[in-house]
Amino acid sequence: MTLIVMMSHHILPSVLGFAPRAVTQPPQPTNKLSFSSSKDLFGRVPHTSTTIVGYAASSTHIMLMLEEAVREMAVARAKEKLKEMAKEKVKEMKKEKVTEVVIEAKEAVKDGIKDKIKKRLRRSILGKIRDFLVKKIMAKAIEELQERRSGIDMKLLDVVGLSLSNSSIAVLEGLNDPNLNLFLAFIPNTIISANKEPETNKDIDIYDENGGEQKFSLGWKSTGEGYDQQWKKKLIPAISIELAEDLSVKRIRKDAFTGATPLHEVGILELSKSSVLYPLEDKIAFFNNEAEANQLINDVKLQSIKHDGANPNTYNDWGDQTTDEHLSRFFFHGLGAVLLEQQTGPSTKAELGPIEINMDFMADLAVREGFRPYGATLYFDEDQKVTGIYDTHKEILVKPGDEDAWERAKFLAKSSALALITAREHLLDTHLTGSNYLSFSSIKHLPPNHPIRRLMNIFTYNANRVNDNAMSILVPENGLFHRFTAFEYESMVKVFKTGFATSNIFEPFPKRNMRPELLELSKGDKLPYHKEGCEYYDIVEKFVREWLKEDGDSAKDEFARAFYSEIRDASMGSKYELPEFEKEDAMVDLLSQGIFTVTAFHEIVGTTIDYTSDPWAMAMRVVDDEAGSTAADVQSFMLFLLVTATTGKKVPMLMKPYSNYFGKDGAPKWERKHWKNFMRDLRTQSFRIRRKECGIIRRKPEFKFFDPKRFESSVSV
Ligand SMILES: [Fe+2]
Repeated sequence: MTLIVMMSHHILPSVLGFAPRAVTQPPQPTNKLSFSSSKDLFGRVPHTSTTIVGYAASSTHIMLMLEEAVREMAVARAKEKLKEMAKEKVKEMKKEKVTEVVIEAKEAVKDGIKDKIKKRLRRSILGKIRDFLVKKIMAKAIEELQERRSGIDMKLLDVVGLSLSNSSIAVLEGLNDPNLNLFLAFIPNTIISANKEPETNKDIDIYDENGGEQKFSLGWKSTGEGYDQQWKKKLIPAISIELAEDLSVKRIRKDAFTGATPLHEVGILELSKSSVLYPLEDKIAFFNNEAEANQLINDVKLQSIKHDGANPNTYNDWGDQTTDEHLSRFFFHGLGAVLLEQQTGPSTKAELGPIEINMDFMADLAVREGFRPYGATLYFDEDQKVTGIYDTHKEILVKPGDEDAWERAKFLAKSSALALITAREHLLDTHLTGSNYLSFSSIKHLPPNHPIRRLMNIFTYNANRVNDNAMSILVPENGLFHRFTAFEYESMVKVFKTGFATSNIFEPFPKRNMRPELLELSKGDKLPYHKEGCEYYDIVEKFVREWLKEDGDSAKDEFARAFYSEIRDASMGSKYELPEFEKEDAMVDLLSQGIFTVTAFHEIVGTTIDYTSDPWAMAMRVVDDEAGSTAADVQSFMLFLLVTATTGKKVPMLMKPYSNYFGKDGAPKWERKHWKNFMRDLRTQSFRIRRKECGIIRRKPEFKFFDPKRFESSVSV
């Protein structure tokens, strides 16, 4: 009821269109004539009346009628409103109901989730218990296996015919490294037996005795007969290996000439990286003396080939490798010389001389427990004499005469350089980039009778197989490089990543950066690394130019361009990116530098035997204690010596006629002419160098690395 009253006051006026005041107004007097009838001609009720009574009566009647009408309308409206309100209420109630239902549903879901969580928790706890038990059982099993295996591995050395002296048994048993024992049993004998019948340049020919497919036809399908036939591209299995984020290397595992690595070798390599069977465990021990070290080296057949062992013969005489003179020689006339081009400005300590070699960045590379960080900067005067070494991690500058500290600093500096160059200039630049892409691109883009492929075959002989092994055995986590250095695996990855960014492996050697002081030394014949490197490069460039000129279009045909582009793509993102292929010079540069890399450059970075046969010369890692500060630990020393032994395999040398290959079986005769000319120039160069090395007045210090007679034809070991 209250609702209706309220409505009559507030809703009616606006709803009916007139004010209630008009309804309650008192009746007004009037004299106007009225019609006799109460209705007009059209039957409508008239608005006025002729008599007062009539008027009053009519007026009251109208008023009543109006009031009645208004009431009726108000009631109707109120009913409508009530209806609306009722609807609203129903809606509201429905909503409430829905909300209730939703809440109920939510509760139900919650309960469901709770159940699920409970179940999961139960499962997780059970899982954890199970994992714990499995881990325990596994650990026990592995422990037992390792204990027994350690004995088995030692026996394995017996089985493969290594007769160990008591002192060697004591060293190996004390070390108790099954991974080392596995390699000792496997590598030296494999190399020694391979060297009994090594492949020579004479074995490199086009067809085998019975004719058939060409030997260097990997990647291509024959469509006819004879040398000049058309070749069709064939799908070849290539894989891409990620060395670091945004850094992958494409490779073909099979070699065009020597095929793929035998399965049993692949099996052993893969097995050796198993973190369960051969977990990476650093064992720190040192040789007591030189005799003990030499005895072990001989017992496991890791002495040089000339003494019936597996390791390559050295052609250098390094003398005492702990002296200051040795250090200077190492950095100007040995492996360390490849770092000289890194100096881009004047010495940061001019008072110590104009030449410096900075390896400071290595101090930031995380190393495993028990080892000290790498990293040092060396300073030299204009006579290449070392004047100071900055220990980057300890932040101290040490000078000659600082007794023990000086000896430690020298060992640190040489060891840092050895680890860095082995990872960067040797493994990454020379093997995985230079040699690998020359071979990869040649197989992929050049048909077997293309003049550039014909040339590259010699310089990429066995490269796929060697680089494949390097990738399998050295690069991965738990691989040999990881084991014989101190690097945490992520530090290795960083070395590869920064190594690629600073790489200039495709930059022509004579055009590379060299400080004026170093160029002066080179001109004065005091830096043969640079002088003889440039001389050799010039000989190669002349040969390449003549080779390409002989078959005018080959250097720039569609195959050649594709070959160039593939390698150019691989150089993108490094310090030296190959330029666009605009003219023949670009191809001459690429091929000349490629040949330089796989022959001369590999000779200086790959002759590791000179630095791996004396534990007191330098090491691949520096143990963080007094004994380790100037000596290689046995585990690292032996593992690196094993890797060095793999370079002892006899392979075709560069300065050979390759008479079964050039100009043979339909190949153009001009090949022989140009190879002959190349050999003649190399002989002259070799003679010039040998005169300096072996003449009456011998140069000191010696530098035999760039004598072409020492070069292999490719990165084949
Ligand atoms: Fe190598």
